[in-house]
Amino acid sequence: MIKTKILNKYTLNFTSDIILLNDLYHISALLTEFQKDYPNIDKWFLCKVYRGIFSGQRTILLKKRNNQILGLSILKHTDEERKLCTLFVDKNFHGKGLGTELMEESLEILKCGHPIFTVSANRISEFQSLIKKFNFSLYKLYPDYYRKGLTEYAFNGGLTVNKKISSNNWVHLTAIPLRPSAALHVGR
Ligand SMILES: CC(C)(COP(=O)(O)OP(=O)(O)OC[C@H]1O[C@@H](n2cnc3c(N)ncnc32)[C@H](O)[C@@H]1OP(=O)(O)O)[C@@H](O)C(=O)NCCC(=O)NCCS
Repeated sequence: MIKTKILNKYTLNFTSDIILLNDLYHISALLTEFQKDYPNIDKWFLCKVYRGIFSGQRTILLKKRNNQILGLSILKHTDEERKLCTLFVDKNFHGKGLGTELMEESLEILKCGHPIFTVSANRISEFQSLIKKFNFSLYKLYPDYYRKGLTEYAFNGGLTVNKKISSNNWVHLTAIPLRPSAALHVGR
């Protein structure tokens, strides 16, 4: 049976730290698959996502069967923005509705129907159907954004570079909301 597990400040059970660390370790390993498109995804996970879970600014949704992670989404919900940072499903489980479920549950947690969402040109064909189903609007194309020669497609709002955080040019990206709903101030 496939279950959704929510990892965020409000659902953390501090008595089960080992289980949490185990999940975070697995997620970090799964994300390496996307290193080709996002060269600093490992640093981003450690620096931003991991901390964001504890600060209440990020949530991870996991689709799990027993101990196996079949899919996940990573969400950002700050006062300034609502963003669906990552969404993916294990290749062996594509086409079974998990991507649609993750999207629905992510929008519910974000309390926003049109969060900022970006996809690399390498993956855009896989997302076409979900983007249409959820009525996301193409905002802008960003050539050479994360990787030279690769275009990033931004939906519902745009990306901007605001801060260098390390000497190897890794930059922190924030988003410019297109729709007011992507920038709702939701008290929690
Ligand atoms: C996009 C993705 C999440 C869809 O997951 P999924 O579990 O297969 O989604 P669903 O089963 O709910 O199907 C949703 C739609 O996507 C379509 N789809 C699924 N895999 C697809 C693929 N490889 N190519 C094209 N369309 C695909 C399905 O046919 C379905 O369309 P329909 O609703 O019109 O019938 C999955 O293909 C994926 O994880 N891709 C890689 C994502 C990625 O690179 N993420 C990192 C950056 S954000």
